[in-house]
Amino acid sequence: MNFKLSEEQLMIQQAAKDFAQNELLPGVIERDEEQKFPEEQVKKLGELGFLGMMVDPKYGGSGLDTLSYVIAMEELSKIDASASVVVSVNNSLVCWGLEEFGNEAQKEKYLTPLASGAKLGAFCLSEPEAGSDATSQKTTAIEKDDHYIVNGTKNWITNGGTADFYLVIAQTHPEKGHKGINVLILEKGMPGFEIGPKENKLGIRGSDTHSLMFNDVKVPKENRIGEDGFGFKFAMKTLAGGRIGIAAQALGIAAGAYELALKYSKERKSFGTEICNHQAIAFKLADMHTQIEAARHLVYKAACDKDNNENYDLSSAMAKLYASKVAMDVTVEAVQIHGGNGFVKEYHVERLMRDAKITQIYEGTSEIQKIVISRSILRD
Ligand code: CAA
Repeated sequence: MNFKLSEEQLMIQQAAKDFAQNELLPGVIERDEEQKFPEEQVKKLGELGFLGMMVDPKYGGSGLDTLSYVIAMEELSKIDASASVVVSVNNSLVCWGLEEFGNEAQKEKYLTPLASGAKLGAFCLSEPEAGSDATSQKTTAIEKDDHYIVNGTKNWITNGGTADFYLVIAQTHPEKGHKGINVLILEKGMPGFEIGPKENKLGIRGSDTHSLMFNDVKVPKENRIGEDGFGFKFAMKTLAGGRIGIAAQALGIAAGAYELALKYSKERKSFGTEICNHQAIAFKLADMHTQIEAARHLVYKAACDKDNNENYDLSSAMAKLYASKVAMDVTVEAVQIHGGNGFVKEYHVERLMRDAKITQIYEGTSEIQKIVISRSILRD
């Protein structure tokens, strides 16, 4: 498969790289330490078109393909995964779902401000007792006249405190199981919609993760996306694309750590020579480089499948499973190559190692990706 990037894709790559160096790198350690959301940076990402990259320009998006999106995600994630997860969730879990399945009125009202970055979105599926087992939704959306009344709790919601619009998956007809689930658009400030405290996390500490509580929130029926009972399929289809974004994030974290380790190994001396001249280090670099290249192929392949309108359930799951493992393995080795300095915050690699872990958990754990992959290969 030939992944030669076009002129336009190379420009996007350079723009994302420049943004990461000039806007994300300054203050990234402090934001991580203080768990500070990159508010100004996200605003600028929106102004530059990174928050609605694949959305049709008629809704205020950049009208780019998925490959351009993953290239940008990789560059941003090399420096700041807390900022890149905002890009990933807004693009793939919120804008894509709205554009693909929303009606014209919903697109005008919600997609347009989300794509331009004027508003931020969140995707609300996980619950205290429904993480991997996503069909077991306990949040209810019960029909009453021209409204749904929403009750329940959502957990680990990215952009939970900072979002303006929330796509909430909830059970309307429990007797129908997953076929009774709906997806509704909720707005911050709707009476009965409460935001819990920010989670204190191991990694991506600048990103804004909260529980959300719904107590008799009245949501107009016109805020339901798709037919009655479409909510679970909406979540599955949207997550298949989301996994490409997270795979690209994992790839970027790995590539960022590798680049730092390579540079360090050419500067740091031991036993009278730069440490890259020791086979112990050179072989680590060889393994890291090979793993990253393999992950990049899987991530690009999944993006191309989506762009070519081919089924990407399998390729996105494989890309996320593999790239997230590479992110863990490579960041651990990057810390090792840095020795004592790797354990110190100013060298960045310890943060990348902490950030890598979540890529094996959110938007479907590695074990869930193996369920998707094994079911796919056994079915075919
Ligand atoms: N596209 C379309 N439909 C799909 C689908 C897909 N990719 N995957 C499943 N479905 C459909 C099935 O066809 C089935 O429908 P029918 O009965 O009509 O055929 C229905 O969904 C139920 O499917 P399964 O029987 O396969 O369901 P299951 O209970 O075995 O679970 C699962 C399947 C893949 C394990 C799923 O539950 C899953 O993906 N779980 C993980 C959830 C997840 O990724 N959570 C992440 C939270 S979001 C997050 O992290 C956001 C954030 O803020 C960063």
